[in-house]
Amino acid sequence: MTMSPERLSDPVLENDWHAVCLASELKEKPIGATLLGERIVLFRTGKGVHALKDLCIHRGAMLSKGWVDGDAITCPYHGWQYDAEGACVCIPAQPKGEKIPPRAAAQPYACTEKYGFIWVCLGEPAGELRHIEPFANPANRPILCGPYKVNAAGTRVMENFTDFAHLMFVHRHLLGHPEHAELPDVQIVKEPDRIYIENVPIFQPVAHAGSDKKDGTTYIYRKEVYRPLSGWLSKTDPESGQTLWILQTISPVSASECLVFMIVSRNYGFELDDMEFMRFQDIVFDQDAQVIETQKPELLPLDLQAELNHRVDRFSVAYRRYLRELGVVVGTT
Ligand code: FES
Ligand SMILES: [Fe+2]
Repeated sequence: MTMSPERLSDPVLENDWHAVCLASELKEKPIGATLLGERIVLFRTGKGVHALKDLCIHRGAMLSKGWVDGDAITCPYHGWQYDAEGACVCIPAQPKGEKIPPRAAAQPYACTEKYGFIWVCLGEPAGELRHIEPFANPANRPILCGPYKVNAAGTRVMENFTDFAHLMFVHRHLLGHPEHAELPDVQIVKEPDRIYIENVPIFQPVAHAGSDKKDGTTYIYRKEVYRPLSGWLSKTDPESGQTLWILQTISPVSASECLVFMIVSRNYGFELDDMEFMRFQDIVFDQDAQVIETQKPELLPLDLQAELNHRVDRFSVAYRRYLRELGVVVGTT
């Protein structure tokens, strides 16, 4: 028997938005997902997308195993129906006209759709979902990649996103070359709602699926973290102006498991098959995951003395400080 995962308490992550599935997957059938150890059911009606705790108050069955009927979701056990706000609107076994007990309700969660993902917030949304133009503008051909399931803390995965010095080793001969491993001394910019670094040159033998440069390219990177588990980067070839943008947002399933959602956008190579970019991202992310899943401790140490932070790790260190200042608990130690 599998026990239910334990709901994790983290006021910052609970009040944040997390992508939980691809919007294209949520059709007429409900979908179950796990966020911060909480099982949730997602369903779509004519009124939009909705999320409830995946638990029928009657006898504890999973609503995600049920079905959608009009504007309500039906529990598969005794057919109780819940509306988008979680109110029970029908108890089939009860005589018609009798009042439904007010306690008959399912816990509702904030749910919305953006960038081709379904997003859920378990608490009170602390802010709007960030709008980042290259991922919202269809002219940039945003391609959804993943979700990739990783047996590691979301914080470890996010820190890998902030890391430059692994490109020449984990992604050698694609996104970096061991003979070009030296990094420049670039300062971090810290603002109240984000940290970023820019003008970082990285030599890349094969930078992307559509690369036709046989001798490689030196790209200029910009990376930004704007939420504990969300960030984006751009990399530009200064000669041609060709830019690739990657957004990464991580759903914390539990303290040491996550789902990684990505969007890849571009301003060139529209004649190329989008699938090539997706496959390239699958390869690159798998290379990252292979290493991340081996890291110990599993939870990201926010005590800066706990691991050896080098000057070249400046952006990762800024990320750890950012998590500590925000007070992120899950996935950290
Ligand atoms: S358990 Fe859901 S209707 Fe009885
Ligand atoms: Fe990587």
